Amino acid sequence: MTEPEGRGAAQASQQHSTDPQQALATLMSRALAAAFGPGYADADPVIRPSQFADYQANVALALAKRLNQAPRDVAAELASHLGDSDVLEKVEVSGPGFINLTLHDDWIAAEAASQLDDPRLDVPAADPAQRIVVDYSAPNVAREMHVGHLRTTIVGDSVVRVLEYLGDVVIRANHIGDWGTQFGILLEHLLDVGEERANDQLAAGEINAFYQAANAKFKADPSFAERSRLRVVALQAGDPETLRLWTTLINDTKKYYNSIYARLGVTLTDADLDPESFYNAMLADVCDELQAKGVAVISDGALCAFPPGFTGRDGAPLPLILRKSDGGYGYASTDMAAIRYRIRDLHANRIIYVVGAEQAQHFAMVFAVARQAGWLTDEISAEHAAIGLVTGADRKRFRARSGRSVKLIDLIDEAVGRAEEVIKDRYDDPELRAQIAEAVGIGALKYADLSVDRESGYVLDFDRMLALTGNTGPYLQYATARIRSIFRRAGIEPGGVAGPIRLTEPAERALALQVLSFGSAVSQVAEAAEPHKLAAFLFETASAFTTFYEQCPVLQAADEPTRQSRLALSALTLRVLVTGLGLLGIPVPERM
Ligand code: ARG
Repeated sequence: MTEPEGRGAAQASQQHSTDPQQALATLMSRALAAAFGPGYADADPVIRPSQFADYQANVALALAKRLNQAPRDVAAELASHLGDSDVLEKVEVSGPGFINLTLHDDWIAAEAASQLDDPRLDVPAADPAQRIVVDYSAPNVAREMHVGHLRTTIVGDSVVRVLEYLGDVVIRANHIGDWGTQFGILLEHLLDVGEERANDQLAAGEINAFYQAANAKFKADPSFAERSRLRVVALQAGDPETLRLWTTLINDTKKYYNSIYARLGVTLTDADLDPESFYNAMLADVCDELQAKGVAVISDGALCAFPPGFTGRDGAPLPLILRKSDGGYGYASTDMAAIRYRIRDLHANRIIYVVGAEQAQHFAMVFAVARQAGWLTDEISAEHAAIGLVTGADRKRFRARSGRSVKLIDLIDEAVGRAEEVIKDRYDDPELRAQIAEAVGIGALKYADLSVDRESGYVLDFDRMLALTGNTGPYLQYATARIRSIFRRAGIEPGGVAGPIRLTEPAERALALQVLSFGSAVSQVAEAAEPHKLAAFLFETASAFTTFYEQCPVLQAADEPTRQSRLALSALTLRVLVTGLGLLGIPVPERM
C-alpha cells in the first residue's frame, strides 16, 4: 500500500455547475431569503423530479408550520420571487403547496453546450479534497477468490475511480489474508506436494484443490496435523526457511489474482497490497495501548474489548477479541492495528471498507473500539460499505454446478463465452469477435455487480446480464457503439463537434436535461460509496438517447443548424456515457 503522489489532484475547476437541481436550489435560496428573510436562505428547498414539470420544490410544505402560514400561501409567496430569471420558463403552485418548476429550453441548451466544452463534463471537484483509504478486494492467500470477493473488487474499484476523478487522494488497500494458523497446514502440504508442483498448481488457480487436499490430510493424518502445528510456531517465530516457503505461497496466489485483476481491468497492483501480516509487528503495541487506556481488559485469559451496545444472544456483553488466551492474535487484532495505522500514520480522513455485509458487526465493533481509544474522531469517517450476497437461482450463495464454490476464472470465461454466442452473427473476423466478446462478457459481469444497490443481494443470471435491452452492461455499451456509428457514417470525429445546441423536439430537450445531471450522479457515488447511482443515471441517459434517436433524425435532419445541434447532443451523450462507464470500470468497445 503505497501513497499516491498527486494522483487525482483535480484542477480546482470553475465553480459553475450545470446541474439543474443545483441551479434551482440557488434560485430557491434567493427566493426564500427575499420572501421570508435571510435566515431562510439555508432551508432545504426539497427539489425533486416532477411528473408535471421538470422539477418541483416542496419546501413550502416543510416551512408552513415554522412560518405559521398555509403551505399554499408560502408557495405562492416564493413563486412570486422566482419570477424573472433566464433559468425558469414557468413557475406554478399546485396541490397543497408544491411549486412546479419548468426550465427554459434556452437555459438547458446553453448549459449542455457548456458541458460539452468542459473537459471534466462539469463534474464538480471534491472541496476540500480528502485522503481516503479504500479497503477492497482482500482475497485470502491459498483460498479461491469467490463471487463475494469479485463483487467487493468490482464495487471497490469503481469507488476509487470515482473518488480520484473528483480529486480526492485515494489510498487503495488490498487487505489480503496472508496470515493465520491455516498456514501451518498449507505449508506442510506445499512441502509434501513438492514446491515446484505446488507453485504451478497455485499460480494456475487450482487453489481450492490445494486447500481441500491440505485440509483433508489435516483431518485424516495425526502426524501431518502435528507437523502443521509446529510449522505455525516456526512461522510465527520467523524461521527463515518457513518464511521463504510462506513467501512462495503468497507469490503464487498473487500471480493468480493479479491475472484476474488484469482480465477484469481492476486498477489494483502489488503496490496496493496491505496484507494482514504487515500489521504483525504492531499488534502487541496496539493491545498495550488499548489496555492502558482501559478500553481492553483481560477476560478468561484473553484480552478483549467490550464496546458498549454490543450484546450476544444471551444479553451478555460481546467481546472483540484482541489477543487469545494462548497469546495468538486474530482477524480483529489486525483490523484494530490497521485502523490505527490508517488514521495515525496515513492521516486518512475517510476510510471505506468495501466488505461483505456478513461482517457488519465486526466492523461496527472495530469502529466503536477505535472511537473509545480516541483514534476515530468526529473529523474522520469510517464506513463499512457492505456488499450483499451474490446467489444462484436457488437464492443460496452462488456455487458451481459441482456444488463446490465456483472458480472465479471459470465464471469470467463463462460470461465471455456466452457473450460470444450473443454477438456471433455480427462479426466474421474471429479476432474482432473475440475482442468484443471479451469486453461484452466482462462488462456484463461487472455491470451486474454495479447496477444493484451494493447492499442488496442479487441472483447471478447470465442470460439477464447479457441481454441487449434493459439495465445491462451490453445495452450501455451498445448505446455508445451506436452513437459512434453515427459519427463514422458522417465521417467526423465526435471530439470535434461543438455547440450551439438548439432544442425543439421534446426528445432532444429530455436528453439534454438528462445529461446535465452527470456531475451530481458522480458526486452521489462518492457520498456513500454507491456506484449503482451512476449506473442508474447512465441507463436513463442511454434510454433518453434511444428515444431521441428514434424520434429525431440526426444525419438526415431537415436543416444544417438542427443537424449540427443533434450531432453536438450525440457527442455530449457519448462522452457522458464513455466517461461514466469508465468510472464504473466497464470496458467500452468501439463497435458492437
Ligand atoms: N480477507 C477478508 C475476507 O476474505 C476480507 C478483509 C476485509 N478487510 C478488512 N480490513 N477486514 O473475508
